[in-house]
Amino acid sequence: MGPQAELPEPPPAAHAIFGDRLPDAVRYAELLADIGVGRGLIGPREVPRLWERHLLNCAVLAEVIPEQVSVCDVGSGAGLPGIPLALVRPDLRITLLEPLLRRTNFLHEVVELLGLDQVTVVRGRAEEVMNDVTPVHVVTARAVAPLDRLASWGVPLLRPYGEMLALKGDTAEQELRAARAALAKLGVVGTSVLHVGEELLDPPSTVVRVEVGESPGGVRFAAKRAKAARRGGRGGRGGRRSP
Ligand SMILES: C[S@@+](CC[C@H](N)C(=O)[O-])C[C@H]1O[C@@H](n2cnc3c(N)ncnc32)[C@H](O)[C@@H]1O
Repeated sequence: MGPQAELPEPPPAAHAIFGDRLPDAVRYAELLADIGVGRGLIGPREVPRLWERHLLNCAVLAEVIPEQVSVCDVGSGAGLPGIPLALVRPDLRITLLEPLLRRTNFLHEVVELLGLDQVTVVRGRAEEVMNDVTPVHVVTARAVAPLDRLASWGVPLLRPYGEMLALKGDTAEQELRAARAALAKLGVVGTSVLHVGEELLDPPSTVVRVEVGESPGGVRFAAKRAKAARRGGRGGRGGRRSP
């Protein structure tokens, strides 16, 4: 095996984006480059491009998230985009949702080391926890699944009038077109493609925004939730506070 790739110094955009949390962002990048690679959570070839392609690309998502809302990062993996988001937006309450134990162990360690009190790690698959997690204002996701499948997992986690923000590459428009029928069935009332971080990143990050109306997940899902609520289960939205 060749020599380990070196983690580069943070680029100027990292100073602008992370501000006084830059030392924590550096610590996170070091953890990814060190134990993240060692445990197979991130490929060694990603290390030279950790800043641009991973931390910064994810942190700029903060530009389009309203203040003081709850966020669920579906398929967080090694914490992307959830951890960079938590560093730049301490006002957000963030749940990192991830099914694999190896990854949730790493996430717990990062949250503790960086003192991210507003972050909770939940182990599970989105489609399995949807009746158990308190609905959130915003679902985020990167590199988890094609948009139609991702929406079927992410949209039911939303509160009424919430939104899903999926970091996508060049395929954003194409995925959106392919997912239109599936999105309509899920109670989606608006979609758009946004470019975030335009002033700081080249290229900027591409985000698909999916907005829901009164019934996130569609009519069938609302009926399921109502039934769970009547049974006294944890699936009802009525009277429940967001995390
Ligand atoms: C390619 S990784 C991307 C991780 C991270 N979001 C990133 O951008 O680096 C996809 C992640 O989605 C998780 N995942 C797959 N299916 C899922 C599901 N149904 N619910 C929640 N997470 C899921 C996987 O365990 C994996 O960590």
